[in-house]
Amino acid sequence: MATNSSKRVLITGASGLLGRAVLEAFIAAGWHSTGLAFSRADRHPNLVKADLCDPVAMEKLIDDLKPNVIVHCAAERSPDAVDQKPAETFQLNVQSTQHLSQCAKNVGAFLLYISTDYVFDGNAPPYTEDATPHPINKYGESKLAGEEAAVSVYPDAVILRVPVLYGPVEKLSESAVTVLFEKLLEGPTGKPAVMSHYERRYPTHVADIAKALVLLATLKLQGEEIRGVYHWSGKDCLTKYEMVQHMSKIFGLPMDHVVADATKPTSGAARPYDAALSCSRLEKLGAPTPMSFADGISSVLSPFARKA
Ligand SMILES: NC(=O)c1ccc[n+]([C@@H]2O[C@H](COP(=O)([O-])OP(=O)(O)OC[C@H]3O[C@@H](n4cnc5c(N)ncnc54)[C@H](OP(=O)(O)O)[C@@H]3O)[C@@H](O)[C@H]2O)c1
Repeated sequence: MATNSSKRVLITGASGLLGRAVLEAFIAAGWHSTGLAFSRADRHPNLVKADLCDPVAMEKLIDDLKPNVIVHCAAERSPDAVDQKPAETFQLNVQSTQHLSQCAKNVGAFLLYISTDYVFDGNAPPYTEDATPHPINKYGESKLAGEEAAVSVYPDAVILRVPVLYGPVEKLSESAVTVLFEKLLEGPTGKPAVMSHYERRYPTHVADIAKALVLLATLKLQGEEIRGVYHWSGKDCLTKYEMVQHMSKIFGLPMDHVVADATKPTSGAARPYDAALSCSRLEKLGAPTPMSFADGISSVLSPFARKA
């Protein structure tokens, strides 16, 4: 599709799991799209290298590009990594978000900030868009602080909260969902592969999030009132063990060595039990129904199943 120069989008974190899909979706929808990367910029020659923690460089870049939409995907998103490097996380997830929001405001760009279901404690699902956040780990706190930073400097910024993501991955360990497939590919090792059958998750394909973002951006440019917090999520409620059951069935791989653990995990950062997101605001806008987990994971894992 030919690009439309009045529809210019800038995507941060475009070398990441979600950002790659977001860039692809905006390009497919005819937007003039610029994706940013940082440490992986050399591996993605179509992306522009930029450090979000360098405010002077970011300001110049945004002023030069003058996007009318910015989708802010970049973040440190591993709860355990956040626990290990709180200062760096604060700089990336909060301070750079605040600065990016100011830059967006300066050029009048519509800002979409990607946030997480981990802003909730997971004790009283489902969570509506106006439910009060109460994060239980440092990652959730940093993302909530990022939401607040964005809206405090730029009240027109939109927050999109999403649950655990999967999609086309560079390696299985890139997503908390696809990494589970490694246990099936490994097969029996003599030791049982223990898989959590406790926390309830709503794995969501990145292409579904990308479609919702294109919709929000398009409606905003058409003059619709798009403000505040939105949620978007897959519909299947699954524990990690149940995700593996799907994978086993789809690819005909035995899982006799995989053992369900129904107890509350005690290691690593605390995680919400069930942070189901109510998505009524985006449903009312006509966002396309997310794909089923079985369909989505089948296409994502097929290349890895073939290699095995
Ligand atoms: N993945 C999930 O399950 C999940 C669930 C809920 C919400 N989210 C949210 O969704 C968003 C996207 O997550 P993701 O899974 O796509 O993350 P990801 O795959 O880890 O990608 C992170 C991105 O941030 C970029 N980045 C890191 N430091 C940077 C810096 N200093 N300057 C510029 N860019 C920098 C990385 O670029 P380089 O790699 O090139 O350095 C990469 O493109 C995040 O806001 C996350 O909080 C994710």
